[in-house]
Amino acid sequence: MNKLVDKYDRHLNYLRVSITDRCNLRCLYCAPGGLVPKLAHEDILRYEEILRIIRIGVGLGISKVRLTGGEPLMRAGVYDFLEELVALDGLTDISLTTNGVMLHENIEKIEAAGIKRINISLDTLNHKKFKHITGYDLFEQVWAGIEKALALGFDPIKLNVVALKGHNDDEFVDLARLSLTYPFHIRFIEYMPIGNAQMMSSDYILTPDIRAQLSVLGELVPVTRKQMDGPAQSYRIKGAKGEIGFIQAMSQHFCHTCNRLRLTANGQLRPCLLSDKQLDIRGPLRSGASDEELKAVFLRAVEHKHESHHFAPGCPSGVQDAMSNIGG
Ligand code: 5AD
Ligand code: SF4
Repeated sequence: MNKLVDKYDRHLNYLRVSITDRCNLRCLYCAPGGLVPKLAHEDILRYEEILRIIRIGVGLGISKVRLTGGEPLMRAGVYDFLEELVALDGLTDISLTTNGVMLHENIEKIEAAGIKRINISLDTLNHKKFKHITGYDLFEQVWAGIEKALALGFDPIKLNVVALKGHNDDEFVDLARLSLTYPFHIRFIEYMPIGNAQMMSSDYILTPDIRAQLSVLGELVPVTRKQMDGPAQSYRIKGAKGEIGFIQAMSQHFCHTCNRLRLTANGQLRPCLLSDKQLDIRGPLRSGASDEELKAVFLRAVEHKHESHHFAPGCPSGVQDAMSNIGG
């Protein structure tokens, strides 16, 4: 029975967990120039602390966990942690979001831990642009990781494309076309004003414009939503192996279907990505709180879930906390 039901009757069964704020890239829309301040080591939750918090969440109705960062594969000991997470009772869905840089070398360990669902950031297919957007010339390495994920049977493999006018909007058709020959889910994500990424309002490009560009590929046939699906509206080009999705964070709020809570790398329960309200669970945990007391922090976080966020494209003031701590 899910006890994490908010006042708008949303059932929160999905916990996104950032296990580190460190990252080996510095994407324009997240950590431009790498200038995001790093958390102090002792402020970051230890693995056993994360596992305890997840266990408490499972007791309240969490059934789905996604690990994010920063770049989760950068954290020492992550593969042992994945095994412990998979061994935990009560989770039906465990997935990982990575920038793919360390994937090729390590994907067997992810597979061995029992994880099959993976999201990989891929904003461009051009190595020069990859360097421009992420700060590093690592396209080939990421692509090799994606191909290996495919060869090993990871399913689904979702490729996240943050849509940026003037940076990758000339590639949307090529990126979407990947879904014709590969079983990938290509997901176009509208840029969200979070942390100290200083994108201009002229950098926004929204789903209606992206869809208009993709019309050259033929009709996009809607894919029926499964219960555990996220906020992406999914489509398939006729005959395609994969899917195309749009995450309309800015142009069409999907807050009414939100089923998520977030745990930040420094141990804050965050009811909404787009609101800086957070509840400290690390403090009570480290000062000896009982399971019941930690459950109460979850329930308070649920009470603080707003009906909806109020961002719109070009909003002057965004979210203060860094995406790399919250975990996207
Ligand atoms: N707006 C939209 N998407 C973002 N991501 C990171 N920062 C932003 C932002 N400001 C995406 C990354 C990653 C996913 C977790 O979130 O591309 O794939
Ligand atoms: Fe790193 Fe992901 Fe942020 Fe890019 S978007 S800098 S890969 S955490």
